Amino acid sequence: MLTVAVLISGTGSNLRALLDAADDPAYPARIVVVGADRDADGLEHAEAFGIPSFTVPYAAYPSREAWGAELDAQLRVWNPDLIVLSGLMRLLPPAVVHAWAPRIVNTHPAYLPDFPGAHAVRDALAAGAQQTGASVIVVDDGVDSGPILAQERVPVLPGDDEHTLHERIKPVERRLLIDVVRRVATGELDLAAASAPAGTTPDVPVRPAASTTHP
Ligand code: GAR
Repeated sequence: MLTVAVLISGTGSNLRALLDAADDPAYPARIVVVGADRDADGLEHAEAFGIPSFTVPYAAYPSREAWGAELDAQLRVWNPDLIVLSGLMRLLPPAVVHAWAPRIVNTHPAYLPDFPGAHAVRDALAAGAQQTGASVIVVDDGVDSGPILAQERVPVLPGDDEHTLHERIKPVERRLLIDVVRRVATGELDLAAASAPAGTTPDVPVRPAASTTHP
């Protein structure tokens, strides 16, 4: 069973969807802890599911590195197999990324590499894009620049504002995220292979799930 820590900053609707999915005994991952960088509304979902949570308030630390060191210490208590950034609106410092790589994934409300950063939905509207999307990526040192694990297009409709467009993207994000975590848990998706430099691994970054049956 894959153990997962989820980090949030906001309402945690994608966290909630992952908690619902993991509540099914057939789902191969369990959320063991939820962390936040502020007193996030979404922490209530962890409480509702009886999942432990912690907060490392970004504003209480003198630097990103100091905040990251405490976040890392909290994560080490739970030692999850996978860390999911589900609306964590902070860049992790490189020391944290390197400590856990490639086992940190991030969900993002755009079809990367288009519209990285903290205002992806607003930026897509401002650019007059006809379509945007949702992506799940491996976290690296850059801003939403890591290897793409899953993504899907979402149309921008006439009259869309930031809220309506984001609310249309989020269900797609949830579906992609739940599926990526499932595939990591079954071994169908190998994060190390997906993150390796081109030419050092097979082109297709997947390996078959472990099987107990023999041909
Ligand atoms: C999600 O759309 C997530 O992709 C986005 O914040 C939202 C959180 O929603 N994250 C980013 O933009 C990170 N760059 P939620 O709190 O309702 O799950």
